[in-house]
Amino acid sequence: MKALRAVQLTKVYRKSKQPALDSLDLEIDSGQIFTMLGRNGAGKTTFLRIASTQLMPTSGSVEVLGLDAVREAKQLREKIAITPQEAETIYPLTPRDHVLLNLRMRGLPKEEAKRRAQEALDDLELTEVADVNSDWLSGGLKQRVIVAMALRTDAELIFLDEPSIGLDPVNRRRVWDQLTRLKKDGKTIILTTHYMDEAEALSDNLVIVSRGKVVAAGTPQSVRASVTQRTTRVDVYDKFNQSELGKYGHAVSIAGRFRVLTDENGAKDLGDEAVARGARVALSPVTLDDVFVDIVGEAEKEEEDER
Ligand SMILES: Nc1ncnc2c1ncn2[C@@H]1O[C@H](COP(=O)(O)OP(=O)(O)OP(=O)(O)O)[C@@H](O)[C@H]1O
Ligand SMILES: [Mg+2]
Repeated sequence: MKALRAVQLTKVYRKSKQPALDSLDLEIDSGQIFTMLGRNGAGKTTFLRIASTQLMPTSGSVEVLGLDAVREAKQLREKIAITPQEAETIYPLTPRDHVLLNLRMRGLPKEEAKRRAQEALDDLELTEVADVNSDWLSGGLKQRVIVAMALRTDAELIFLDEPSIGLDPVNRRRVWDQLTRLKKDGKTIILTTHYMDEAEALSDNLVIVSRGKVVAAGTPQSVRASVTQRTTRVDVYDKFNQSELGKYGHAVSIAGRFRVLTDENGAKDLGDEAVARGARVALSPVTLDDVFVDIVGEAEKEEEDER
């Protein structure tokens, strides 16, 4: 069954000329962890806000759990939970208040809500700070409170917009564990992230969005394999310029060095040439990070060429 189906979804904000979403088509299976990747401004939050009934599309449609996000917004809201991007905690509520009030507002009876609030606080190790004023918490703790609010609801589908932003590596993994638990319980998770390791570790499927359009889709493995001919990355630290690296593969400049994505032959040739010149090089397999830079870079270049 499809948990979400977007057809030709378009959003043009009133004050901007460029569409934030540009005839976007997307299908997401239920029971999955689905990740949306894309550069700042690619349209991820816009998509999540429309699909979660908070924002009207300009045209096109999106159906979530079989309900139209515009016409059947009210029924849909009961079945979904949302962790918005850059949400704030509310003064003078405690973390427990945040989680408990959210559960009560969703219609859970008092005792049940209390029990679940405690579970959600335990899930993200917020027990120690559960009853202090949220204003006193660090940024990462506040973010965990925001995520905890969505964890023990009865929502069939949960939207999380950059849930692990600002979290240390231990707490990021705690969030991952919770998302995996929710998936085991049959829920659908739709999230955005800028952490490629997170996308790789969690997602059943992912899309890369660029300027409001899907430019790559599939499992993390298949998206990585979509640039299969470029299996190896070669970091060149000196003695080459970018233009002469083009013949070995796709070369980009990163933090004072050049990174070339290439195949095994290209890597060998470039390695040999680097040794001959006495240049500093390092070889490693391509990561989803590289693929992201490659795919988004190509998509944006093509679009500029078209103009
Ligand atoms: N309220 C708004 N009014 C006008 N333009 C907006 C508004 N919100 C977003 N935009 C524009 O729409 C585009 C998509 O923004 P969006 O927030 O969806 O991107 P994003 O992929 O979530 O980026 P990030 O990774 O930075 O969170 C951007 O060009 C942004 O400037
Ligand atoms: Mg965003």
